[in-house]
Amino acid sequence: MCGIIGYVGNRPALPILIEGMRRLEYRGYDSAGVALVDQGTVGVTKSAGRLSVLEQILDLTATQTTGIGHTRWATHGAPTDVNAHPHQDCTGKIALIHNGIIENERALRTYLQQQGVTLTSETDTEVLAQMIGRFYEGDLEHAVRQALHEVSGTYGIAVICADEPGVIIAARKGSPLIIGIGKGEHLVASDAAAILAHTSQVVYMDDGEIARITADQVRMTTLDATPVTKKIEEVEWSLEQIELTGYDHFMLKEICEQPAALENCLRGRIDLGDGSIHLGGLVDCTRELTRAKRIILTACGTAWHAALVGEYLFEELTRIPTETEYASEFRYRNPIIDDGTVVIAVSQSGETADTAAALAEAKQRGALTLGVVNVVGSTIARAADAGVYLHVGPEIGVASTKAFTGQVVVLALIASYLGRRKHLSATAAEQFISALARIPHQIGEILEHVDAAKSVAQRYADRENWLYLGRGYNYPVALEGALKLKEISYIHAEGLPAAEMKHGPIALIHEGMPVVVIATAGTQYDKIISNIAQVRTRGGSVIAIATEGDRQIAEQADHVLYVPDTVEPLQPLLTAIPLQLIAYYAAVHRGCNVDKPRNLAKSVTVE
Ligand code: G6P
Repeated sequence: MCGIIGYVGNRPALPILIEGMRRLEYRGYDSAGVALVDQGTVGVTKSAGRLSVLEQILDLTATQTTGIGHTRWATHGAPTDVNAHPHQDCTGKIALIHNGIIENERALRTYLQQQGVTLTSETDTEVLAQMIGRFYEGDLEHAVRQALHEVSGTYGIAVICADEPGVIIAARKGSPLIIGIGKGEHLVASDAAAILAHTSQVVYMDDGEIARITADQVRMTTLDATPVTKKIEEVEWSLEQIELTGYDHFMLKEICEQPAALENCLRGRIDLGDGSIHLGGLVDCTRELTRAKRIILTACGTAWHAALVGEYLFEELTRIPTETEYASEFRYRNPIIDDGTVVIAVSQSGETADTAAALAEAKQRGALTLGVVNVVGSTIARAADAGVYLHVGPEIGVASTKAFTGQVVVLALIASYLGRRKHLSATAAEQFISALARIPHQIGEILEHVDAAKSVAQRYADRENWLYLGRGYNYPVALEGALKLKEISYIHAEGLPAAEMKHGPIALIHEGMPVVVIATAGTQYDKIISNIAQVRTRGGSVIAIATEGDRQIAEQADHVLYVPDTVEPLQPLLTAIPLQLIAYYAAVHRGCNVDKPRNLAKSVTVE
């Protein structure tokens, strides 16, 4: 969704802003704009559409050294030129970019209109810009502070003013902002990817903080003007990780990165010698965790599918009753949380609004909260009482791949960490951990045979309806496989627990309909073979995901994609890979924009 970049220093700001905005494109956007301060004026250029459209109307030779840039994903008001950010006050002196939602926008709009202010856009952001303008009496920071006192909702903002060249005021509440520390220059951004080309030294802003940023100084205070001292931290991501490095798409790069990403996720956390697990983020709450009577996993989208695998893992390894809830449902249904409930929020970005709100709700009701998050310093990571990072590196492709497997690995680690402290025997834990340690290499083996998945994808890419079936641990993978296909190729796909097919969806099966069946070796193998027969009898084309060495399945299915053998609870880490590849190659075959699928945003920061 929306992205923020700001620069103040001694280099021309515009190329830095454009490059930063380009790095933010992956989040999803529908309009873009920049504002530059120049000798007593603020120049704003903005337009609906892609960045390339904006570039055509910009004076690319501009040399101003202070500016802000924004990529907008429309919420309040259509994606038009007028509604694009930056927004200005009625004097035109102040320009503002904003991520988040001003909830009392209507009341403030009415107030401004009563004061004779003419608003030109439909956005809540313009309302905030105008409020800052009303309070401005020569001190931008003071005006921003006063305006924010009148506002309810969420914001990450960057503001500049014609009368104060060389100054950016940034403020955060519920929408992430980081400040990049350079030499004689500073940047502000909503996402580390936007500034990594210039610096990896950052300060994470917290909710309720305001920063006055100049080329030489960053001065941070609370909304009430109390000074705060912040730590400079190092972003662990490298520039290479956010570049294509020869791949056609980020999605393919991230699929192929999974062996290395999961090695990184496991590094230092498992001891194959004695089967023990070390999770630094859980040390302080281990006692409370072990006493948990109930675990609730909450998430959205792909993370919800990983959480569902987590539910099965937790119940099997810890025997603690576990449920998985859509974050959006959990937060609004007066959930029962008592002493002994642990709520785990699973999120790649750590910024998904529904997941963050579910976590806040759980915390407010007294639950111990954990975050299973990829982005260090993100909202959910900061809000949770404790947690475990994925450490799989930045995920740029909108369709989540390596974050899914990273989430499953981390949930498997937490489940066996807890399980060991409950009833899981040392031998069982050791076997589980050594199987987990083999997973990255096994994914590498699957990736040596991408052509098999590619040819299946190409063969069926023109079919508009697909089914995905799985049982047990592979049921969430069926859901995830269907979601991947929908997200990037716009094919309708449905994932089901295989046995449920006969209770309705079987009516859909017709000659040649692709049905992906996860039929790996395990306790339910015979049952899934019967499901395959039910599909074939009705003319469906079966694409089976099976365990290497299973010759029998080749007679039952139209196509077989093999994965190496592992213990049943870890099968999702392997069976997900061919499904990611099928979705990818089907979308490429259909000419879809794989990394920027229509209507989707990488991280959904609104409800
Ligand atoms: C969006 C993305 C999905 C993602 C979901 C949750 O819908 O398009 O790919 O799974 O958000 O994101 P999170 O960052 O919380 O894992």
